[in-house]
Amino acid sequence: MLNKQHTLFVCTTCAGVWQNGKRVGESKGEQLLKQLQQIAQNWELRNKFLIQGVECMSACSRSCVIAFVAEDKLTYLFGDLSVDSSASAVLQCASQYYTNPDGSLPWSERPEPLKKGILASIPPLSKWTKLHLHSC
Ligand code: FES
Repeated sequence: MLNKQHTLFVCTTCAGVWQNGKRVGESKGEQLLKQLQQIAQNWELRNKFLIQGVECMSACSRSCVIAFVAEDKLTYLFGDLSVDSSASAVLQCASQYYTNPDGSLPWSERPEPLKKGILASIPPLSKWTKLHLHSC
């Protein structure tokens, strides 16, 4: 389980500034991604947990937005993350996600900036595939 690919997606288009149909300057999402990449240099999971910038995850009104994804685990989407105070908490939560076999992140165990702002908790596809195979 622990050898499977784990990925932290970070929306780089969150809280961007637009002028005349073009994005200008650095978005809050890009700032958050940079902070995460910087502090992850000293993170024990830096070689096991990919940090990947992506464009819009369709939760634009809840910026900044990140997601934890891994095979056979729950997928989580979080929003309302502050650039200034959430990067360490995101990596702490990523470590919990990595350690828990099903990726579960109970409210009581999540760091403060991720206690609120949860937008989705999606079950792993493999769970339902196994159930359907058994019911045939
Ligand atoms: S711009 Fe970040 S979720 Fe849409």
